[in-house]
Amino acid sequence: MVIRNPEIFDLGQDRTKFWGDQGNRLDWFKPWDKVLEWNNPFAKWYAGGKLNAAYNCLDRHLNGARRNKAALIFEGELGDYRVLTYQDLHREVSRFANVLKSYGVEKGDRVTIYMPMIPETVIAMLACARIGAPHIVVFGGFSYEALKDRVLDAQSKVIVTSDGSYRRGNIIPLKENVDQALKTVTCVEKVIVVQRTGQSVAMQEGRDIWYHEVVKNIPIVCPAEEMDADDMLFILYTSGTTGKPKGIVHSVGGYMVGVSTTHEWVFDLKDEDVYWCTADVGWITGHSYLVYGPLANGATILLYEGAPDYPDKDRYWEIVEKYKVTILYTAPTAIRTFMKWGEKYPMGRDISSLRLLGSVGEPINPDAWMWYHKHIGKERCPIVDTWWQTETGMIMITPIPEVTPLKAGSCAVPFPGVKMGIVDHQGKPVEKGDSGYLVVCEPWPAMLKTVYGDDKRYEDTYWGQYAGMYFTGDEAKWDEDGYFWVIGRVDDVINVSGHRIGTAEVEGALVDHPAVAEAACVGRTHAVKGQAVFAFVSLKEGIVVHDSLIAELKAHVVLKIGSLARPDDVFLTDELPKTRSGKIMRRLLKDIAEGRAMGDTSTLADASIIDLLKKNVNQKT
Ligand code: PRX
Repeated sequence: MVIRNPEIFDLGQDRTKFWGDQGNRLDWFKPWDKVLEWNNPFAKWYAGGKLNAAYNCLDRHLNGARRNKAALIFEGELGDYRVLTYQDLHREVSRFANVLKSYGVEKGDRVTIYMPMIPETVIAMLACARIGAPHIVVFGGFSYEALKDRVLDAQSKVIVTSDGSYRRGNIIPLKENVDQALKTVTCVEKVIVVQRTGQSVAMQEGRDIWYHEVVKNIPIVCPAEEMDADDMLFILYTSGTTGKPKGIVHSVGGYMVGVSTTHEWVFDLKDEDVYWCTADVGWITGHSYLVYGPLANGATILLYEGAPDYPDKDRYWEIVEKYKVTILYTAPTAIRTFMKWGEKYPMGRDISSLRLLGSVGEPINPDAWMWYHKHIGKERCPIVDTWWQTETGMIMITPIPEVTPLKAGSCAVPFPGVKMGIVDHQGKPVEKGDSGYLVVCEPWPAMLKTVYGDDKRYEDTYWGQYAGMYFTGDEAKWDEDGYFWVIGRVDDVINVSGHRIGTAEVEGALVDHPAVAEAACVGRTHAVKGQAVFAFVSLKEGIVVHDSLIAELKAHVVLKIGSLARPDDVFLTDELPKTRSGKIMRRLLKDIAEGRAMGDTSTLADASIIDLLKKNVNQKT
């Protein structure tokens, strides 16, 4: 193993030159004039260059041996499977791109994709990219209300969905959700429906179209649109500190260079690998490291539709055995779940094909890291713990396999070409051994371009705290060797099973219930999920508490957002702790939820509330 000082990455490196060199890994219709035009905090990467993301993921692999290589291996929850070669995928994407065009979708028009994890989802994303229509993938677990908010914010013209989605043998009615969402929406002209489960669904005359019917008689040639490097590739909504999710905008050139470089280096990609990223395409990990990065690199990707415990708890290991997966990229919450189930499940399968393991989405506790290393990696596979965000688009802090010595629980050091730091509240770098706020010190290629329709929110949220630096919202420690240890969010965002949930969103959903006067949510440490939502709720005057009220409130959150945001605990209280100016003191509620000693209570308007809350919560839990 080559052991390098991690700081080598930071010694006088010319980052713009580095990313200029990496730009050459893609095929460009027109070369860029300038690697970076930086108009703080707005960046144009590869300014003047023209390219197409789908062309880079497909067409350029067709002249040679890769043409017949498996691009996508699909495993359905029911055990059905399909393999699409690069040539197959190219044909299907071109076909569907022509379908979109035939319904009037033009460059710049937005298309929402609300789908299960099936090949048509990847096909739809790449078809959008091919014609320059930004896609908005909405995770299939989001409720119709959440879907509606996103469709409206992006003003989507078309929705691609399916009749339903399999989950642990049940069917999630995606098309029905779309119908609910569109009741009061006027911007959507067409809904294209993929037949997956075969259950009967209502089709609205003139609006709804079956995918399998429209792809039949359509040309299979569709030229890839020449996009400016700075044009929008997609919008992906994520939670922030306010109630309204933000539409994170990624542009074609910088994003594609960033994800393909990191994908190749971090996963030490070889042509013969079978690469499996378990994230849903509805999240950024699915965009960058299931679709765009690996396909740009000509990898074979595995797409699994279902749950890890269906039909049994060894499903993942059965899949590894069946397809001889070599690289597995998953989340700590999944690893902790496997730990809970026990090692007999991976032991019952031949998983010796694995050679590299990855982790993403939340801090991985050393126990889970060791279990992953021992029982899945058999003490021979390196683990890359990768830190990044929807906004960063690409992996930012990570070990490089066989180069960076690993430490269980640390995501190691910034990727080459990325400059990150840890600063105190005044923006001054902390000393080694100290912790502080995690920032990015220089622009990077896959950085978000803006918040959709709201440049000011982009500037204020990310660049407004420390001059010239991007604020991640995370807290981290810098150890004596220069390694980064990410502790967690310092803003009002909760990380539940690696999913970002804004406390304000859950509070908004609770307050929407007719019985609720006020709500405050915090994250509480959870052994498997990392964090769980703990909600404190005060009811309107005169509301009589009945047995099913708590269940009703939880169900209301599921209706408004989706089951991923369902609070584990809802605690009813007459009052919430507030400052004299009326601000809810979430910090104290967090102390109560975690059952730990109280922080400073001197600014409270009425300190007696705290004692009462503590007593009552303790009695209940
Ligand atoms: O708090 C960090 C955590 O996930 C947040 C980003 O969430 P999202 O935009 O949904 O993207 C998740 C997948 C890239 C970060 O602000 N996070 C992500 N990866 C790690 C992590 N925390 C610790 N270690 C990681 N490897």
